Amino acid sequence: MSNDVRPDSMERITTLELANAFIDEQVAEVRKQVGDKKVLLALSGGVDSSVVAALLIKAIGKQLICVHVNHGLMRKGESEQVIEIFQNGLDANLIYIDATDRFLSLLDGVSDPEKKRKIIGGEFIVVFDEEARKLTDVDFLAQGTIYPDILESDGVKAHHNVGGLPEDMKFELVEPIKLLYKDEVRVVGKALGLPAEMVDRQPFPGPGLGVRCLGAITRDRLEALREADAILREEFDNCGLSKKVWQYFIAVPDMKSVGVRDDKRYEGWPAIIRAVNTKDAMTATIEEIPYEVLHKITNRITTEVEGINRVLLDLTPKPTGTIEWE
Ligand code: XMP
Repeated sequence: MSNDVRPDSMERITTLELANAFIDEQVAEVRKQVGDKKVLLALSGGVDSSVVAALLIKAIGKQLICVHVNHGLMRKGESEQVIEIFQNGLDANLIYIDATDRFLSLLDGVSDPEKKRKIIGGEFIVVFDEEARKLTDVDFLAQGTIYPDILESDGVKAHHNVGGLPEDMKFELVEPIKLLYKDEVRVVGKALGLPAEMVDRQPFPGPGLGVRCLGAITRDRLEALREADAILREEFDNCGLSKKVWQYFIAVPDMKSVGVRDDKRYEGWPAIIRAVNTKDAMTATIEEIPYEVLHKITNRITTEVEGINRVLLDLTPKPTGTIEWE
């Protein structure tokens, strides 16, 4: 399709002026495409879907219906941030679905990483379908497809939702940022007024904390992971590492060791810190973290997080380790 090819003449969007020009052009384009019809968008809170949401809210306001599915595997505060920014801040038409129980009961006892991914991806489509079916007068589906999705894949992301929807649900696609590279999406997001912590965020896998709560997920270990991850992010923000490190997170394996807390034996899980730098996620190097920061993180996690009694640091580059543990 020719409109899926970025023209050579298209300037790289690096400034606010260029971003504003792009936004004006897309606002007009979207209005022309959808008229007075309604558009549905799965809003995960990631950079791409957030920028599409903000752009479409500017173009068509309440004709956009955002659906945020909380699969229970989000990082701490993420779903709340989506509601705060889009519903409270931008007055978006937002449907929030807390599907935590559905996802966690399907994942109960499942330890194989690929099975976990399939369950999470599959259930997402089911929940989204159910919501889409309740809305009778929607003709368009918006997606945060970006140019690397078109270049690198055979359209996995571009066709993910559509491919998953039943045959009888036919939507025309609205993909306003499909010719943009990630850095341009971030500039456009800022120009649209989205907060830096949303547009500059590190990559987060679709299955979320599901592939970092290693093995069969349990609610208590997932909660411990979420709290430990929040502490890591807070301390990386405090010391400036969040600006230098491409991806950083905690993984919590399904194993316990003996420890001691409040003069009593305290068995707990280890929290594993992973902090890597990479250009394309194909290979990755290890970012050095000052010992002072490591001690602070260790102290906070082991005293503040229920169920964790040790903190470990993963020093393995990719290869041989992949970025995620599962
Ligand atoms: P690996 O672990 O393969 O990860 O070195 C490379 C990059 O891909 C992300 N990743 C995923 N993203 N769904 C996603 O959307 C997934 O199932 C998934 N698995 C890994 C990972 O976070 C890293 O940025």
